[in-house]
Amino acid sequence: MTVSALTSAFQQRFGAAPDLLLRAPGRINLIGEHTDYNDGLVLPAAIDQEIRFALRLNGTDRIRLAALDFDAEYEVAVADIAPIPNGHWANYQLGVVASLLQRGATVPGFDCAFGGDIPSGAGLSSSAAAECGVAWGLNKLLDLKLDTMALAHVAQQAEHEYAKVMCGLMDQFASLFGRAGHVVELDCRSLEYAYFPFDTADCRLVLCNSGVKHALGDSEYNTRREECARGVKIMQKRNSAIKSLRDATLADIEADKDELGEVVEKRCRYVVEENQRVRDLTARLAEHQSLAKVGELLYASHAGLSDLYQVSCAELDTLVELSRQAPGCYGARMMGGGFGGCTLNLVATNQVKEFLTHMKQGYHNELGLKLDTYVTTLADGVGELLS
Ligand code: GLA
Repeated sequence: MTVSALTSAFQQRFGAAPDLLLRAPGRINLIGEHTDYNDGLVLPAAIDQEIRFALRLNGTDRIRLAALDFDAEYEVAVADIAPIPNGHWANYQLGVVASLLQRGATVPGFDCAFGGDIPSGAGLSSSAAAECGVAWGLNKLLDLKLDTMALAHVAQQAEHEYAKVMCGLMDQFASLFGRAGHVVELDCRSLEYAYFPFDTADCRLVLCNSGVKHALGDSEYNTRREECARGVKIMQKRNSAIKSLRDATLADIEADKDELGEVVEKRCRYVVEENQRVRDLTARLAEHQSLAKVGELLYASHAGLSDLYQVSCAELDTLVELSRQAPGCYGARMMGGGFGGCTLNLVATNQVKEFLTHMKQGYHNELGLKLDTYVTTLADGVGELLS
C-alpha cells in the first residue's frame, strides 16, 4: 500500500489527515525456534514485508480502527475495551491499548487505519507487526517515553491477553529491533542482543509458503509451552539450578528420563539441542565458515522440530525434502510456530531462479499444490514513514 493510498483511505474513513504514518515489518528466523519462551536464544531478522499504519488522536474517548486489506472497521470506547472472542483482528490493537493502560498510561481516543503485504498464517508474524506498529505509534503520539524493549513487552502482552497465544518475545523483538542487512541474536533471558551482517552477495533467504495456515492460538503452541514447563518442574526437583530449559543439559534430561516420560523428554531434548544450534550458527557466521556448514544446522533444526518437538506437518516436511535436491540450496527448515506457514531456505544467490523452479515443480508433482515463494530482503525495524 503506497503512502498516498494509505493517507487518502484514512482521510476518507475518518474525515481528517493522519498525525503519524509508520511501518512495522514481519520477520523471519534463521534459527532458534520455540526457544524464546524457554529463556533461550533466537536469531531473527525483520523483512521488507510490512504493515503500514496511519494514526491520529481524534479528541474523543473512542478508538476507531480500519483494516484496509479486508475493508473492516471496529469502534469501541477506550474504557470498554476487552478481548473479542473468536480471534477478531482488532484484538491486536486493543490488546496493545490494554497493555499500555496497565502500565499506567493515559490513552485517549484515536483513529488508526492499516494495511500491508505480510501474508497471515504464513509464520511471518503479521500479528506482531500489527501490535508493534500500534505500540510504537501510540508511544510516539502520546510521548509515553517507553523504550523499544518495553514496547516489545507491551506487544507481547497484547498477544498473551487478547490473542490468547502465550508467545515468547522473538516476533515482537524482531519487528522492533530489525536492522537492514542483518540478523539479530537475542538472548531471551538477559535480553542482550547482537547484530550479524547477512551478505546477500553469496546467498539469499528464500521462503516457500506451504499454503497451510497455522492456527497457533488453537492449542498446540500453548501445549508445547506447558510441556516444557512440566519438564522444568520435574528436573528441578533433582537439580534446583534448573529454572528454565535454558539451564538444562542433555545429561539432566537423561537423568530424569523415566519421570519425564517420552513426550516431555523429546520436547526438552529438542530445546536444549536447538539452543546449542543457535550458538553453533552464530559461531560459524563469525568464523566465515562455508554456507554448507551453516545450512546443515538448518536441516538439523528441522529434524528436531519435526521428530522431537512435533510441530511440522506433511507439507513442510515435503518442502524440506525437496530442498535437498534443489539447485543452490545449503539448508532448509520449517520456520515459526509450525503446523503450516513457510520453510526458510538458504540459497546461493546465483541459483535462486533454478531453486524456485525446482521447488515449484516438485511441490506440484508431490502434492498437487501451488507454491508461493518470497526472496526476502532484511529490513529495518518499526519506524516512521515520511509522507
Ligand atoms: C511464534 C511465537 C514466537 C516463537 C515462535 C517459535 O512465532 O510468537 O514467540 O515462540 O512461534 O519459535
